[in-house]
Amino acid sequence: MACAHGLGEDLVREGCFSIDPASVVFGRGALAELGDHAAGLRRVMLVTDRALVRHGHVDVAVRSLRARGIDVVVFDEVSIEPTDASFTAASEAARGGGFDGYVSLGGGSAIDTAKAAALYATYPAPLETYVNAPLGLGRPVPGPLPRHIACPSTCGTGSECTGIAVFDWVSRHAKTGIASRALRPSLALVDPTLTASLPASVVAASGFDVLCHAIESTTARPFTSRARPSPATARPMSQGRNPWSDLGSQEALRIAAAHLVRAVTDASDTEAREALSWAALLAGIAFGNAGVHLPHAMSYAVSANARDFKMPGYPDAPLVPHGVAVVVNAPSVFRATAAACPERHLAAAAALGVDVRGASPGDAGHLLCDALTALMRATGVPVGLSTLGFTAADLPHLAPLALAQRRLVDNAPFAVTPDHMREMFQGALDA
Ligand SMILES: [Fe+2]
Repeated sequence: MACAHGLGEDLVREGCFSIDPASVVFGRGALAELGDHAAGLRRVMLVTDRALVRHGHVDVAVRSLRARGIDVVVFDEVSIEPTDASFTAASEAARGGGFDGYVSLGGGSAIDTAKAAALYATYPAPLETYVNAPLGLGRPVPGPLPRHIACPSTCGTGSECTGIAVFDWVSRHAKTGIASRALRPSLALVDPTLTASLPASVVAASGFDVLCHAIESTTARPFTSRARPSPATARPMSQGRNPWSDLGSQEALRIAAAHLVRAVTDASDTEAREALSWAALLAGIAFGNAGVHLPHAMSYAVSANARDFKMPGYPDAPLVPHGVAVVVNAPSVFRATAAACPERHLAAAAALGVDVRGASPGDAGHLLCDALTALMRATGVPVGLSTLGFTAADLPHLAPLALAQRRLVDNAPFAVTPDHMREMFQGALDA
């Protein structure tokens, strides 16, 4: 499967890439600085979930905001893995609340919910309006959004520095999202000490999300394979791998690979959990700029169609955590994508600890696949779609749903056909 993104003769190949730098404060105790960073706001909606209230983190945030005279309303009804209904509930709470700013405190679910609430409260419209086409209408966000300070409590999604909000569209059995530079939080306030209270399974799931963000960003199609946009300001956020995203993705991969097992198996290993938080941020910056591709495209079909799978450490309800839904496809995908850029897959395998000296380009796919699978087993993450309850009978349904994620599928390093997609799902099932 060599790179096969064809450009018509009449299109000019892209020669530029853009950088939209995230604004970041990172370090122990950062959450207590929240009020200072929110100075100038009058009334904020703090979007979080009840676990963060129980652990006392919401208290820290509220006290910090109130110390600066900022009025705070806590919305703690975020759903883990948000849905169209939970996005709508948050948006309705935001509308009419008189908020001039937003704070999100939690995992990617809380941060994405705050993005949606700020968007629909500022520019009211039916949900599908701004949702990515073809599932939604894909209309552009009409203008800037109020300030949003994102405070992640997990070490995975990178949502604090991306313009993407993902949700499960229940009635359509599909996971999709909204993607716009306007959604990028104005500040990522990352306090890695918040991860100390996370269960091992949550660290594992979010850690594999980090690894996949990093590997997908560094193996995405090159930005030069797209057509140059006209006008130039229409350059997409997911522009393909480029020198800037490589900085973040390759360093994130090196750090996450070195610390993932320690961070999962020992909650008291603060060095490992802080390192994973830093890797998550770097990978978030990278994929917010380059885009991810097939493991994420396939994950949305998986998580929206899982039936009975439950993961310890998560709410007692059928749910495939995002990072698990992604990484379960990843070994099969990287076996398929390796031929398009073998040197990058070999570099990823080397970052995961594989001795690649003497390896040939033809070895790249299985070396990376085996290394990733070994890491999944070492951290107790389900290997293979069958462990999530899927069978071969599900594949004809899953493949078209994944193909519908055009933004992600088109960012793969080769042109993906329906046959490719079915083969990759078959490989993920057999793993
Ligand atoms: Fe992700």
